[in-house]
Amino acid sequence: MGYKDVYDAWKSDPEGFWMGAAEAIDWDRKPSKALNDSNAPLYEWFTDGMVNTCYNAVDRHVAGGRGEQTAIIYDSPITGTKSTISYAQLQERVALLAGALQAKGVTKGDRVIIYMPMVPEALVAMLAVTRIGAIHSVVFGGFAANELAVRIDDAAPKAIIAGSCGIEPGRVVAYKPLLDGAIEMASHKPEFCVIFQREQSPAELIVGRDFDWNDVQEGVAPADCVPVEGDHPAYILYTSGTTGAPKGVVRPTGGHLVALNWTMKNIYNVDPGEVFWAASDVGWVVGHSYICYAPLIHGNTTIVFEGKPIGTPDAGTFWRIIEEYGVKSFFTAPTAFRAIKREDPKGEFVKKYDLSGLRGLYLAGERADPDTIHWAEEMLKVPVIDHWWQTETGWTIAGNPMGIEHLPIKTGSPTVPMPGYDVQILDEGGNPVGADTLGAIAIKLPLPPGTLPTLWNAEARFRKSYLEHFPGYYETGDAGYIDEDGYLYIMARTDDVINVAGHRLSTGAMEEVLANHPDVAECAVIGVADELKGQLPMGFVCLTKGVNRPHGEITAELVKMVRDQIGPVAAFKLALVVDRLPKTRSGKILRATMVKIADNQEFKLPATIDDPAILDEIRVALQTIGYAKG
Ligand code: COA
Ligand code: AMP
Repeated sequence: MGYKDVYDAWKSDPEGFWMGAAEAIDWDRKPSKALNDSNAPLYEWFTDGMVNTCYNAVDRHVAGGRGEQTAIIYDSPITGTKSTISYAQLQERVALLAGALQAKGVTKGDRVIIYMPMVPEALVAMLAVTRIGAIHSVVFGGFAANELAVRIDDAAPKAIIAGSCGIEPGRVVAYKPLLDGAIEMASHKPEFCVIFQREQSPAELIVGRDFDWNDVQEGVAPADCVPVEGDHPAYILYTSGTTGAPKGVVRPTGGHLVALNWTMKNIYNVDPGEVFWAASDVGWVVGHSYICYAPLIHGNTTIVFEGKPIGTPDAGTFWRIIEEYGVKSFFTAPTAFRAIKREDPKGEFVKKYDLSGLRGLYLAGERADPDTIHWAEEMLKVPVIDHWWQTETGWTIAGNPMGIEHLPIKTGSPTVPMPGYDVQILDEGGNPVGADTLGAIAIKLPLPPGTLPTLWNAEARFRKSYLEHFPGYYETGDAGYIDEDGYLYIMARTDDVINVAGHRLSTGAMEEVLANHPDVAECAVIGVADELKGQLPMGFVCLTKGVNRPHGEITAELVKMVRDQIGPVAAFKLALVVDRLPKTRSGKILRATMVKIADNQEFKLPATIDDPAILDEIRVALQTIGYAKG
């Protein structure tokens, strides 16, 4: 069967398609049906099944004879450490940590926040939480205490599991002070914390609240897997939206297992036992789906890589790992390849390694630019597969299903919709448009298994953000078009989300920080094009009347504020003081026009602009920092 047959088979019988895929999962009680549409337009999958995530990711492989197979390879060039964990060892470790959590009162439905660097213990913690039916929420290490506090208040965790530190090139990031600061700031207080001590910066523990990772497991009984309902949340992952308040994407247990397992062969073309590597971070959805869950559910070997594409120690690190561990499919963000290409354009490092075992490179998280794709193809001599998805969906919306059929690649397109997704391009009125016509990308409801059923504690926001604009559809927030051959093209976001080095950030959240500066009367943050990171945030501020401090002093304070309140990952380093911001006559800031000026793109003067002269002022200001040179 080719792609078209599989897609059509799904379309003509979605229920049969997903019930078939569900056969590959070990259920404690098999679901009687796949889709539950009793509460449409909110949908659930496998509602009456009973199942456990950790059992399917770990225990069943030990029972099935994979106990001695390596489950996790840990390779940390940044600390000079390598180790492996077999499925049998993983089962033991996860059951013990789960037992410790259970002994301290964590039960089904309780939330546990995980704030860990890229060490295998991060996966152990995630699996231990799902083992007992609790719900984890992993927070990326590059976020500041304030962002962690917002998530603590929203998820209201009973416990927090944290590493004592993360390690970035040239600096150790002590997590414990950030954790303490966040708990101090939050109104909700966790009952206890478990701290994984790292020798690079062990943390001081607060007696009575904090417990050492090893000590807390001492003498406890290992926990069994707790079966949960198919729609029980496995985890919550916060992601950026239009405002500063992040959205808590809920991932339901049954659909997550079924869908991720299906993707491993059909999309990533790996068989159980083979090595699969996603170079991302457990704090992002790619890390959840493709460092932790999917490879383990499918019985693959996964790699936890603690390092960067360049500088740890050089631009050959990725190739070394691919050779050393026999990686078959490799997944990363285009920005990582841009970084390597910049450092090693002729691929001198590539030549030093034997990459003949690699079958494909998969790129996602941001637009894959043709230059990067062509360079990667030339260097690696394997298909370079762009695929498009989001935190909300948890797995590919559009891609090239390599395990079914290698469809011809059209550079600039992530190829075609996967089974489960009826992707349509809509005009402002919600009507489907013809081929090659730009519009909002929407997915006809219901979304497939594994995608978000709602936002944590925020059903009204879920409806408003995704379902209301185009009734009957899920609004992706991306704009693009579909060509005559059915290939999809992703062109831009339709909201205030930007993508910086493959990291999803909200310009609205940054504006909220800038607006808090006492000298700032008004502000706007936009995403400008960047050769390495894809986009970079840039802030424009108008000062309060009467303020006449040096502008450099104020912008330095603004940069520091964003770093302290959102985190270094925001990469907010560009700020400009201007007299006025361009607006429509109704007062809406013309951010999209500002982006066009900064990026030297042609634009039509908005008909509703209040005072076109302001655009020239913006251009002049941009020129002082090397942008908008024309
Ligand atoms: N903990 C603490 N700080 C972190 C962090 C973490 N987990 N991750 C990033 N940061 C910090 C960085 O140290 C940097 O700090 P600095 O301003 O002091 O230099 C800042 O956040 C910005 O990070 P980043 O945008 O990643 O830039 P970089 O210059 O450090 O690295 C790349 C650039 C391209 C090498 C890097 O972004 C990369 O490897 N990207 C891959 C993308 C990826 O994995 N995306 C995940 C989705 S698939
Ligand atoms: P995240 O939720 O962090 O995965 O970010 C999702 C957003 O990143 C999408 O809505 C797109 O805007 C962008 N994105 C992800 N993958 C791609 C891709 N392959 N091509 C273009 N944009 C992408």
